[in-house]
Amino acid sequence: MLIFIIQMGRTAKEIVKANIQEIISDLNKAYADEWLAHYQYWLTAQWIRGMDADTLKAVLLQQSADELMHAEILANRIIQLGGTPVMQFDKLIATAKCGYKEPPSDPANLKQVVQDVLEAEACAIESYNELSEKYRETDIVTKEIFEDLLEDEVKDEEEWEKLGANLV
Ligand SMILES: [Fe+2]
Ligand SMILES: [Fe+2]
Repeated sequence: MLIFIIQMGRTAKEIVKANIQEIISDLNKAYADEWLAHYQYWLTAQWIRGMDADTLKAVLLQQSADELMHAEILANRIIQLGGTPVMQFDKLIATAKCGYKEPPSDPANLKQVVQDVLEAEACAIESYNELSEKYRETDIVTKEIFEDLLEDEVKDEEEWEKLGANLV
């Protein structure tokens, strides 16, 4: 009698030429950063006030939702590779590369909001650029994910540069 042992994602893992644990660790860092950006943007949207606050709030909420979608894509790739996405909330900051910046203590300091978001986006752009290069030859699927996210963050940065230039 033939016994088939079904291994999840066997071929998917076989085609990866890089160290799987290292890929999972890189994916988890990005996952933590996306969650922190999601939270930072969402909370900032609730917190801010002043002349241009409504314009910024709409963009913050939209991008906050986009970052959560990025976290979802990363979590799914981690699981596909047999890894575990960061399970404890208090591990997110320790795992992240770009980190978390709380909303400015003065809710009317919109320039600070723009600066903080631009910093987060710049870090994400550098990081995704580096990671898509790193896995160019060794893990095509992960490379494509990092490349797609890179494209999104480049658009985010552009939007915030325009918002910053139009602030009174
Ligand atoms: Fe993102
Ligand atoms: Fe972003």
